[in-house]
Amino acid sequence: MEIENWKLMQTIHKTVLLNETINALNLTPGLIVVDATLGGGGHSRLVAKKIGKIGKLIAFDQDQDAINRFKAQIKSGGVENAETDVLLVNKNFSTLKDSLILFGISQVDAIIADLGISSDQLADTDRGISFTGNAPLDMRMNMQSQLTAEVVVNEYSQQEIIRILRQYGDEQYAQSIAQKIVNFRSGQRITRTPQLVAIVESAVPGSYKRKKINCATKTFQALRMEVNKELESLRSFLFQAIEVLRPGGRLAIIAFHSGEDVLIKHWFRENARGCICPPQFPQCRCENKPKLKIITRKPIVAGEDELAENPRARSAKLRVVEKM
Ligand SMILES: C[S@@+](CC[C@H](N)C(=O)[O-])C[C@H]1O[C@@H](n2cnc3c(N)ncnc32)[C@H](O)[C@@H]1O
Repeated sequence: MEIENWKLMQTIHKTVLLNETINALNLTPGLIVVDATLGGGGHSRLVAKKIGKIGKLIAFDQDQDAINRFKAQIKSGGVENAETDVLLVNKNFSTLKDSLILFGISQVDAIIADLGISSDQLADTDRGISFTGNAPLDMRMNMQSQLTAEVVVNEYSQQEIIRILRQYGDEQYAQSIAQKIVNFRSGQRITRTPQLVAIVESAVPGSYKRKKINCATKTFQALRMEVNKELESLRSFLFQAIEVLRPGGRLAIIAFHSGEDVLIKHWFRENARGCICPPQFPQCRCENKPKLKIITRKPIVAGEDELAENPRARSAKLRVVEKM
């Protein structure tokens, strides 16, 4: 996409837990910082301001549109200290270590990851991430990847669909939704979002349809997480993040999904443990040393002011660790 009219490329994404995240990272001028999830650039803009002209910001997003929007923000003067060495990387954050090596960087001072999707992606009528509107069942963040939601609903087995709806959506009606999907697709291929919404509506009881959240919310979330292999990427990213952080450097992660938050919490705890010998051992034999120090015992959540302005912040949980 050519960046001709930057005004058409403004973001509608409202950054979540902005000050809480940036303050937790202790940023000072000259630091090297990774924003693993550029999105609308809210966190990156404040990072650039804090690290100043002599700092370096490396921002990843697997969505080319997010990268283009940030380039447009820089061009329009919307990024303070844009002369900061800003490297934009249109790749999955699971390539963190190798991507940094390509830039000749082996260690960084801080890393941010604000997981999931942006409001820009949700509003993109061609992607079918939202259950509102009428769009193809696509749901990819990276438009170069092969797997789409259409493939999942039409080609995965009923058992696989049940697993995805349960594991990524916590969907209590996974079984009946999967059954209806399989029944429907035996007659015609499911290609558009309203078809899937109608299938979900036909599979769940009336009381579920009258709830505050739309009855298709969890199905759409689960399919999106499968299409983008979100938990797999996160696991791989966490391992690499520890490796590339310098001692004393901090990692701040915001999760919106309980599966992601639990994974992050356990991974932080595991890597913050010292001795792992059985309790009956009189002396430590494992010599295991903690790799991380947990900075947030409990996750930081949005305050009332932010929630009033941005309901999306409701499920956000920020956790921070420091490399030992
Ligand atoms: C919640 S938004 C980030 C918003 C951003 N912090 C801001 O303040 O505007 C998440 C972004 O991360 C990107 N993303 C999600 N998973 C990714 C992954 N595995 N690799 C690279 N980018 C990813 C999405 O494409 C999306 O643009």
